[in-house]
Amino acid sequence: MIEALPGEGVPGEQILGELRELRRADLPTHGGRLFAYVYDPALDGLDDLARAAYAISAHVNGLDPTAFPSLLAMENALVGAAATLLNGGGPAVGSVTSGGTESLILAVKAARDSRPELTTPRLVIPSTGHAAFAKAAHYLRVALDVVPVGADLRADPAAMAAAITGDTVLVAASAPSYAHGVVDPIPALAAAAAERGVRFHVDACFGGWVLPYLRRLGADLPEFDFAVPGVTSISVDLHKYAYAPKGVSILLHRDEALRRPQYFAYAGWPGYTMINPVISSTRSGGPIAAAVATLRSIGDNGYLQLAGRTREAVAILAAAVEATDGVRLFTPPETSVVCLTADDPAVDLFVLADELAVRGWHTQPQMSFAELPATIHLTVTAAVRATAGEFAADLAAAVAAARARGPVVLPEALLAAAGALTPEMVTPELVAGLAEGLGLGGGDFTRMAAVNSLLDVTPPALREALLTGFLSLLQRPAPATE
Ligand SMILES: Cc1ncc(COP(=O)(O)O)c(C=O)c1O
Repeated sequence: MIEALPGEGVPGEQILGELRELRRADLPTHGGRLFAYVYDPALDGLDDLARAAYAISAHVNGLDPTAFPSLLAMENALVGAAATLLNGGGPAVGSVTSGGTESLILAVKAARDSRPELTTPRLVIPSTGHAAFAKAAHYLRVALDVVPVGADLRADPAAMAAAITGDTVLVAASAPSYAHGVVDPIPALAAAAAERGVRFHVDACFGGWVLPYLRRLGADLPEFDFAVPGVTSISVDLHKYAYAPKGVSILLHRDEALRRPQYFAYAGWPGYTMINPVISSTRSGGPIAAAVATLRSIGDNGYLQLAGRTREAVAILAAAVEATDGVRLFTPPETSVVCLTADDPAVDLFVLADELAVRGWHTQPQMSFAELPATIHLTVTAAVRATAGEFAADLAAAVAAARARGPVVLPEALLAAAGALTPEMVTPELVAGLAEGLGLGGGDFTRMAAVNSLLDVTPPALREALLTGFLSLLQRPAPATE
């Protein structure tokens, strides 16, 4: 536990030691064995550079670019680089946001506010669209129309077109989707939206900085950017495959007029007139300077090489999955995601994820959804090229161990109790009791198979309530000690 406000200040060296000690509990952000949350190019010296750049601009405030022209220059440079990479150079404009979710919220806001006459603006997405679209719809009171994807896990252009109504302000799709790493058929979808005069957003938050390079390397991937007529906006996260430290995404619009309703302006109070392109008003220049340093240090050729390493790592991991009895690729990997599932009832995927973690491979289990089975997701970055060769043996051992342990069998009483629960019945006491019963009380999250199995059979609304309750349990200060 760390005391944030001691009576007397504490020496810097001691504080840094405490922070390092705290970090020891985290998953490893470097080393090519964590397949979610972090993106590692494994380039010597890059972290130090980004840190130094961050420090230079940490106290610069993005609230007013006329006061801090350094930030304006850096933001324009980042937006320009993204626009060029995504074939929007020239008329395309954009904003630097804090992350993919903020970029998507703002894309939806701009679309909504471009049609002020509508009382029920609507957003159309495929069922594989990122959860941040649901968050945007929720925050902005835009109705969400979710269209099932086809058997190939891609948005279905005919079904998406059929979902467009006179109230639709935005149609969106992914390039690629997070869960499976597949690219939606952007040209057909954008054409359908354009035909109805509706904005079309490409969520390239995840892959927007690696897809252009994979295409340059010869990967058979469809066009997905401003080269496609009808694409009106694109989001791309620099804190993903551009390998910048956390806190930077770009939202691009094809032209200035499309961006205009993204701004919020308010002069109706006695203080300064607030004009914000993004959700935050005061914001640090640190992440933006770190992103500029990262892009300039790696450069276009560097990104091409990193994409090449990522591609090789994907191929090695995919071959390991194919060579292992008991698991199979859920879909052929076409970008930077390897997604696998079990093909033997004796192999419980959630037990397998635990067994991989025990062997130092931290993957992301994905619950079953509609007709889709549970899967394990691996976000592959360039750092994985160095470790990928060790994966096959550990995967085989983990599958054997999962077989030996057998599938999770949840106690009948627990299943019955969970089956009778509704989201309204989820109280803090119930969540605390459940967490204790499932062994989560001590803060050790390495053996999660039982928890995941229970969540997997829990309807989405109840799962949301349980996990909200659990996070709320975690996110509170320790009781004060005398
Ligand atoms: C396709 C896609 N869109 C949006 C997001 C949200 O990004 P963030 O977590 O930076 O808010 C993600 C994150 O993984 C993503 O993969």
